[in-house]
Amino acid sequence: MIKTNRIRMKAKPAGNLSRDDFSVEAITIPAPASGEVLIAARYFSLDPYLTGFMRGWQGPDPRWAEGIVVGRFVAQVIESQDQRFAPGDWVQGEGGWQDTEVISADKLQKLEPIPGVPFSVYLSVLGSSGLTAWAGVNGVLKVEAGDTFTVSSAAGMVGGIAGQIAKKIGARVVGIAGGAEKCAHVVNTLGFDACVDHHSQDLQGDLATAAGAPITAHYENVGAKTLDPVLANIADRGRIALCGLIAHYQDMNPIALKEFRRLLISGVTLRGFRLPDFAADFEQASAELKAMVISGDITLQETLSHGLESAAGAFLNMLEGKGTGKHLLVLEEK
Ligand SMILES: NC(=O)c1ccc[n+]([C@@H]2O[C@H](COP(=O)([O-])OP(=O)(O)OC[C@H]3O[C@@H](n4cnc5c(N)ncnc54)[C@H](OP(=O)(O)O)[C@@H]3O)[C@@H](O)[C@H]2O)c1
Repeated sequence: MIKTNRIRMKAKPAGNLSRDDFSVEAITIPAPASGEVLIAARYFSLDPYLTGFMRGWQGPDPRWAEGIVVGRFVAQVIESQDQRFAPGDWVQGEGGWQDTEVISADKLQKLEPIPGVPFSVYLSVLGSSGLTAWAGVNGVLKVEAGDTFTVSSAAGMVGGIAGQIAKKIGARVVGIAGGAEKCAHVVNTLGFDACVDHHSQDLQGDLATAAGAPITAHYENVGAKTLDPVLANIADRGRIALCGLIAHYQDMNPIALKEFRRLLISGVTLRGFRLPDFAADFEQASAELKAMVISGDITLQETLSHGLESAAGAFLNMLEGKGTGKHLLVLEEK
């Protein structure tokens, strides 16, 4: 038997998630049997979509029913009972937030090293965040050179990549982010043309000035607070990709849009989408994203937290907007 530690929720949260909802528990796991692999996690992806599973103890993996947190990881193989994997291999998959885990080899994907790029890239630009950004920009909005493109949560992983892809296509790219520091990051590090702070008293006016023209394509990650001022500045036949509603994941009240009628008046197309809708494009998207990472057209941005004991705080920091880019939990090699 192998000793390991994992994250388990203590009880179903009564209201918003808090750090006290999570605990680190010591467990033992059996050694790998034939067709199984013992892995040591190196990175866990801290994703907003996990909020719903954490609140309801319900998710695609049956362990959620016991309050065990399961998410995407990048790991290294420690011991393998399957000929496809050898100790030291880097792999990705989905598993419990724990130091080590025995997992079926069929559920693992081997990762190729990219010179000069950390393996965490497979959870960010080359993972679901990058694919989601690509799908929204190319699949939903079909951004073209000359578009006036805006994106909310621009300093976040999906928003930051979406803006960098749109910029490469030739759009004028304006981000919406929380605070002067994040906006400076969006312009100076990510290369957006402009960025507006959503804490402004006049977000609608700031957006009009920064965009310099009616918005033709908008990528929404946050909710009514950012979508309303965009609708007030939308072009005739503007397109909106509704990717996420992070401001509303912890708030079950109805979502009200003051500018709802602009959808009609301006003949706007608003399309909500989920990443699996674009599964047929993943190969092309991955190849394009990889080329952009290698060429430097996409800047890697990561907020790293270390150790299982910091998992709860790191997850809540991500939801509360502390940090930029991809939020990752890092487990060091012991
Ligand atoms: N449709 C799909 O298939 C799909 C797939 C993956 C992700 N998503 C969605 O994509 C969005 C972005 O995901 P991500 O992983 O890159 O997360 P993220 O953008 O890094 O999310 C954290 C950021 O959200 C912003 N935020 C949180 N609460 C807010 C509020 N009340 N008002 C304004 N901004 C708020 C904060 O940015 P500021 O500090 O700048 O305000 C915070 O830093 C999420 O909505 C996620 O659910 C959708």
